Amino acid sequence: MSKEQEIGKAFDFKLFRRVFGFAKNYISILVTVVLSGILSAAFAVFTPIIVQYIINKALDARNDEQLLTAILVMGSVLLGQVIFQLMFNYFANLLGESVIKDLRMRLFQKMMAFKMTYFDKSSIGLLVTRAVADMQRIGEIFSQGFFVIVADVLKMVAAAGVMLVMNWRLALIVFAILPVILVATRLFQRAMKVAFIDVRAQVANLNSFVQERIAGIKIVQLFNREVIEKEKFREINEKHQNAWLKTVWYNSIFFPVAEISNSIGIGLVVYFGVIQQIETMQDTNVGTIVAFFFLMELLFRPLRQIADKFNTLQMGMVAANRVFMILDTDSHISDTGTREIPKVRGSISFSNVRFGYVENEEVLHGISFSANAGETIAIVGATGAGKSTIINLLNRFYEINSGSISIDGIDIREFKLASLRSNIAVVLQDVFLFADTIANNISLKDDSISLEDIEEAARQIGVHDFISTLPSGYEYNVKERGIMLSSGQRQLIAFLRAYVSNPGILILDEATSSVDTYTERLIQEATNKITEDRTSIIIAHRLATVKKADKIIVMDSGQIVEMGTHRELLKKDGYYSDLYQAQFLQEELA
Ligand SMILES: Nc1ncnc2c1ncn2[C@@H]1O[C@H](COP(=O)(O)OP(=O)(O)O)[C@@H](O)[C@H]1O
Ligand SMILES: [Mg+2]
Repeated sequence: MSKEQEIGKAFDFKLFRRVFGFAKNYISILVTVVLSGILSAAFAVFTPIIVQYIINKALDARNDEQLLTAILVMGSVLLGQVIFQLMFNYFANLLGESVIKDLRMRLFQKMMAFKMTYFDKSSIGLLVTRAVADMQRIGEIFSQGFFVIVADVLKMVAAAGVMLVMNWRLALIVFAILPVILVATRLFQRAMKVAFIDVRAQVANLNSFVQERIAGIKIVQLFNREVIEKEKFREINEKHQNAWLKTVWYNSIFFPVAEISNSIGIGLVVYFGVIQQIETMQDTNVGTIVAFFFLMELLFRPLRQIADKFNTLQMGMVAANRVFMILDTDSHISDTGTREIPKVRGSISFSNVRFGYVENEEVLHGISFSANAGETIAIVGATGAGKSTIINLLNRFYEINSGSISIDGIDIREFKLASLRSNIAVVLQDVFLFADTIANNISLKDDSISLEDIEEAARQIGVHDFISTLPSGYEYNVKERGIMLSSGQRQLIAFLRAYVSNPGILILDEATSSVDTYTERLIQEATNKITEDRTSIIIAHRLATVKKADKIIVMDSGQIVEMGTHRELLKKDGYYSDLYQAQFLQEELA
């Protein structure tokens, strides 16, 4: 469904009730909003009534005391109106922000618990939009949509009622102008809607163009693309400008037109008011006519904006619908296990495990192997053979289709998910660092790990010297995704992160790829230290690093084709032996 179709949909009361359900924790704020809305509307129509009184009675009677009282009352009414309007605005916004604070919290928690399959299928950009922009829109239901509409309608009804009571004939004349304003507003809104679709498209273009050029700045500069990119940018920039100017143009037409209808209204009221006055020979009408000017403003002004506010309300509802869709998604790994083991001994067993990321596309076709506690297991095989998939299954990022996986003889589903994962540390080829200090990236804000622990661990695996050379050592802020560090340096930090968590099981997934020889030696030393006394699974391309493993598993197309020690496998003269010869030869030649 397109955005516009979604907005065009009939008002969804069930959804609306659900959104308001989130306000029930803030009843006192809600009540304040409603009361101040009602009072501010009441006070708004009170001003014209006093104006009428002053002109007709107090001024005419030249009664200073009456006049003074009336002016004082008017002053308090105006003050009251200001206060209630202020309260209304403040508390309506407060309510909106409170609701979305709770909602955002819920959404974030929900997202953090989603299983990998969910993220495989969802775009990061869209999820970010849900948590940020859509939330803001939901807040606007409260701050700019619903209550403002209700308050405006209240004001309009009150103004219309006061007009009818003051002078019903003049009131009907004013009401006759309403359709003109309504039609003009409707036409304007339609034109603006179309114009804004264009604006949004141009903004999106501009965004993605700039973002992409900055992300790919090296390519832009290396290939001397600056001039060409500038020309392309000029084009997009101009389109963006034109789209905006269109909305400015519509605004420039609409507001004078609306003002003219207002003036015509004033003219008509004066004309007929005077005629009426002559006919009835009463001179109470001057005050009424002036009061009508105020009342007309109260009636017309909200009318011009009410469609906008309905739009805001609808946009908020569309956003709420999207957010609720995520909140209603049940897509997490079932966490019904009860076993909590602070530190497993680390024996691992895969028994006839079958698995596919998507239905009917099996990736692992019956994998069986076991590792004794403390052993080092290596997995080798071509890219896409299914090595990383085995790791994804061991820490339950995905659920297996059949077979079983156990640690220390206990099925991994019987573990509490948190307990299972705290026992396994993984170092991936592509290290992710948060925009935070090195120390926080290592401890991941686990309070039980002190800076001394980190330093001690760093010394043990031989990376303390490297971290000390950074500008502020462990407090060095690596910025977004750690781009200030080389991939080898990031790798070392990831090793330390795994090491300080002191896991029963350690997994290195191609952790030594894409590093220089110097870093590789550091990593090799770190690996030796870190795999000591714990079960380790090492996935590696370079067979030199796996030679010492207690067991080497050779995989091909989702199956284990060979298994044994380096020597045994060489003797077998099969897949592994071929792989080894080829690599050996390559290195000899190099
Ligand atoms: N998240 C995923 N969604 C769908 N298919 C995937 C996903 N991850 C990996 N695969 C597929 O599973 C197969 C095994 O991948 P993987 O275990 O990553 O291989 P390896 O680590 O041995 O290079 C490949 O065919 C790959 O395309
Ligand atoms: Mg892999």
